[in-house]
Amino acid sequence: MGNVLILLFFSVTISISPSFGYDTLDPAGNITITWDFLSDNGDRTDVKVSIYNFQLFRHVERPGWRLGWAWKGDEVIWQMWGAEATEQGNCSRFKGKELPHCCEKEPVIIDLMPGAPYNMQVANCCKRGVLSSMIQDPSKFGSSFQMNYNKASTNDSSYIPENFTIGVPGYTCAEPVQVPPSKTTKDGRRWTQVLETWKVTCVYSQILSSPIPKCCVSLSAFYNSTIVPCPKCSCNCPELATGKCVRPGESPPLLQLPREENTLVEPQPLVMCSQHMCPIRVHWHVKQSYKEYWRIKITITNLNFVKNYSQWNLVMLHPNLRSINQVFSFNYQPLNTYGDTNDTGMFWGIQYYNDMLLASGDSVNVQTEMLLHKDPGNFTFKEGWAFPRKISFNGDECVMPSPDEYPRLPNTAHVAARSSCIFYVTMILLSMLI
Ligand SMILES: *[C@@H]1O[C@H](CO)[C@@H](O)[C@H](O)[C@H]1NC(C)=O
Ligand SMILES: *[C@@H]1O[C@H](CO)[C@@H](O)[C@H](O)[C@H]1NC(C)=O
Ligand SMILES: *[C@@H]1O[C@H](CO)[C@@H](O)[C@H](O)[C@H]1NC(C)=O
Ligand SMILES: *[C@@H]1O[C@H](CO)[C@@H](O)[C@H](O)[C@H]1NC(C)=O
Ligand SMILES: *[C@@H]1O[C@H](CO)[C@@H](O)[C@H](O)[C@H]1NC(C)=O
Ligand SMILES: *[C@@H]1O[C@H](CO)[C@@H](O)[C@H](O)[C@H]1NC(C)=O
Ligand SMILES: *[C@@H]1O[C@H](CO)[C@@H](O)[C@H](O)[C@H]1NC(C)=O
Ligand SMILES: *[C@@H]1O[C@H](CO)[C@@H](O)[C@H](O)[C@H]1NC(C)=O
Repeated sequence: MGNVLILLFFSVTISISPSFGYDTLDPAGNITITWDFLSDNGDRTDVKVSIYNFQLFRHVERPGWRLGWAWKGDEVIWQMWGAEATEQGNCSRFKGKELPHCCEKEPVIIDLMPGAPYNMQVANCCKRGVLSSMIQDPSKFGSSFQMNYNKASTNDSSYIPENFTIGVPGYTCAEPVQVPPSKTTKDGRRWTQVLETWKVTCVYSQILSSPIPKCCVSLSAFYNSTIVPCPKCSCNCPELATGKCVRPGESPPLLQLPREENTLVEPQPLVMCSQHMCPIRVHWHVKQSYKEYWRIKITITNLNFVKNYSQWNLVMLHPNLRSINQVFSFNYQPLNTYGDTNDTGMFWGIQYYNDMLLASGDSVNVQTEMLLHKDPGNFTFKEGWAFPRKISFNGDECVMPSPDEYPRLPNTAHVAARSSCIFYVTMILLSMLI
């Protein structure tokens, strides 16, 4: 009976995923662009554009945002600070000494690098387009730039463009809406405000980003020597990828990668050949059982040769996370999306230690162990309860093995006593498994 119930639970979880444009773990998550009119000089205007990542765990990593829009009239950008347009475009209608910064009808703006010349900077600029998630680094989830542009010569109701895009796969932006003007204060006593403020909201959809999963989960436990690998064809089928993956032990073809800071688009993944063909594998190992606690080890492996994952994060769902006691080597924060359920947590790397998941060529993975309290009445090693309900990497849901394959508890179990021996066997097998 219990078995049927658990299977039923899992099949429900599986059938509601992947999510279509709405993330149940971060229902209000969005990226907001604000357009502040700072001053109006007749035919020209100064604006400050800011991009805020209001998402709990999804972040904008390298190569960063590329903000685009379509001018409604014949606007041109004369000057820009804290960012730059990728193309100047055709400015031949201007005959003067000074040419505009950008005459494109649909400009694409990219962030400047940290350390840009001082006279090109503005406050909160120059982060190479990278935006942290709100939880990971509340001081780095926003970015701003300023520009001066010519208003269109036709009369329009507003001087704000339309059809915004942020140049990161998966996001769709709504049309701008006017909101109360942004206010700032220097001393907390007097507040000043801009002339007008408009907002554009962009939301993420995994399906739009890529219908193909980007990561998978493998499982093992000290009480069973079976390692349940990632499901076959999780991200692609090996038969379809011959010649497009790197065999274990072989070195990848000489990659003609541009210098990382100069790339503007994310390279296509080049992965290690495997049954699952995923660029990222997350392994969940039930490592040990103590009297009142149990221990899990989680290993994230980057099998992609062409990408370093900076500021990566994991979101995991397991009912015992409510009783988490200690997390080693990763940062941890509970995500209490539904009041006090507390079964979801976010994990991310420690700055300068393991916040960068290096490309597979460098053969690096990151790992954590955690101790959880065995809640009486809840805790069991039976029926796959010790395994996660859901895992996502950088906000994209990972493919899980089917519950009927989970490592099973032996019938007569003196598990604690045998744990360390089986653990070593498991670790040896694990190191052979790709
Ligand atoms: C975007 O996120 C912010 C901050 O969480 C929230 O206040 C706002 O309502 C969200 N906007 C939409 C349209 O969901
Ligand atoms: C914005 O997009 C719509 C729909 O694609 C298009 O009809 C319209 O011309 C675009 N606006 C501008 C200013 O290009
Ligand atoms: C540049 O724009 C002018 C008009 O503004 C046009 O006459 C000319 O053909 C354009 N040049 C190109 C290469 O598109
Ligand atoms: C723009 O509007 C002003 C006043 O509303 C009017 O005087 C002017 O002729 C209009 N210009 C155009 C190009 O429609
Ligand atoms: C990843 O980072 C390492 C160390 O910073 C660097 O040597 C390597 O070129 C980077 N790899 C890619 C694919 O960008
Ligand atoms: C869940 O977390 C919240 C905030 O961290 C805490 O106040 C609450 O007591 C927790 N609930 C349980 C059941 O642990
Ligand atoms: C699991 O344990 C928690 C805290 O002790 C309790 O609130 C909850 O009702 C238990 N759930 C079940 C299904 O027993
Ligand atoms: C380990 O788990 C597998 C998969 O569920 C199962 O087939 C096997 O019988 C288990 N081994 C033992 C010793 O129970």
